[in-house]
Amino acid sequence: MTRRAVVIGAGHYLPERIVENAEFEATLETSDEWIRSRSGIERRHFAAEGETTSNMATRAAEAALKAAGRSAADVDAIVVATSTADLTFPSAATMVQAQLGMTSGFAFDVQAVCAGFVYALANANALIASGQAERVLVIGAETFSRIMDWTDRSTCVLFGDGAGALLLEAQEGEGTSDDRGILATDLNSDGRYKDLLYVDGGVSTQNTGHLRMQGNQVFRHAVEKLAKTAHTALERAGVGTQDVDWIVPHQANIRIIQGTAKKMGLPMDKVVVTVQDHGNTSAASIPLALSVGAARGQIKPGDLLVTEAIGGGLAWGAVVLRW
Ligand code: ACO
Repeated sequence: MTRRAVVIGAGHYLPERIVENAEFEATLETSDEWIRSRSGIERRHFAAEGETTSNMATRAAEAALKAAGRSAADVDAIVVATSTADLTFPSAATMVQAQLGMTSGFAFDVQAVCAGFVYALANANALIASGQAERVLVIGAETFSRIMDWTDRSTCVLFGDGAGALLLEAQEGEGTSDDRGILATDLNSDGRYKDLLYVDGGVSTQNTGHLRMQGNQVFRHAVEKLAKTAHTALERAGVGTQDVDWIVPHQANIRIIQGTAKKMGLPMDKVVVTVQDHGNTSAASIPLALSVGAARGQIKPGDLLVTEAIGGGLAWGAVVLRW
């Protein structure tokens, strides 16, 4: 028998305010047509004034708990993937813990930018596999609208805010790829590529800073590294691409999503796509896509999923799980 981290609930939260591409035409040399054709993005949600990452994370967590029929008292640990926590410290995760009314267990953040949710899932899986926790809330939540340079058309039209959450529970499996739950993970980073994607400020430089990205350079790395990490994770899980029901990719750019699926030899009707409605929500994009994909009836219990993401660092990775 093998202890598996099984998804027993998914939920998400998107801020009320929706911004269509055309809104940017008033202030920037850009067009709906450019944004749509280069990125696949049509609209995104932006947090309201005063609305924070931990607020959104809590709403997503509540939805995941509700879907699982569980309460906060059943949770042992909270892992929040974010690069845009409310405060320098404490972690967004402990703020979620308080907002959920949890008075026991433990909570911490994981920061791996757009690959954050994949890293958080791998951490939660290890906590469950080692017996440290029975139930873990894994949340991706971001307010990237706070780190945009609104004069930089090459970045500010691409990102959005939101949160998604999964509740994982320890369950006994047979130790085969037919088990439900996380079957394999693969994590990578290469800090030599820092200058391709970073925020030009932080605590020790005394300003919040803005996101800077050499988009076409990141693009070049993305398809190749994403297909490779997905293959590695699938191999570790003992399955092949032919067994995959859904790719649930990080939602940065439809052309990266299409290129990765093609390189993996899988058709687009096996890919969950939400980038048109959410934009790039960094660490929130995969749990948002998982929750929306399940709500749409695309992802069903027993389906084999591979998630993959790449972002600042560069950091990238993949998780194979049976829903
Ligand atoms: N509107 C109109 N024109 C624009 C805009 C805009 N919003 N933005 C850039 N352009 C122009 C550029 O100035 C450039 O003009 P030039 O040729 O006169 O210099 C031209 O469009 C082409 O620019 P490219 O950057 O080469 O365009 P590309 O086709 O590569 O698309 C994009 C840009 C969408 C950013 C793409 O490169 C991309 O998605 N990259 C990957 C992003 C990503 O995956 N990031 C990782 C995750 S994010 C994270 O970790 C936080």
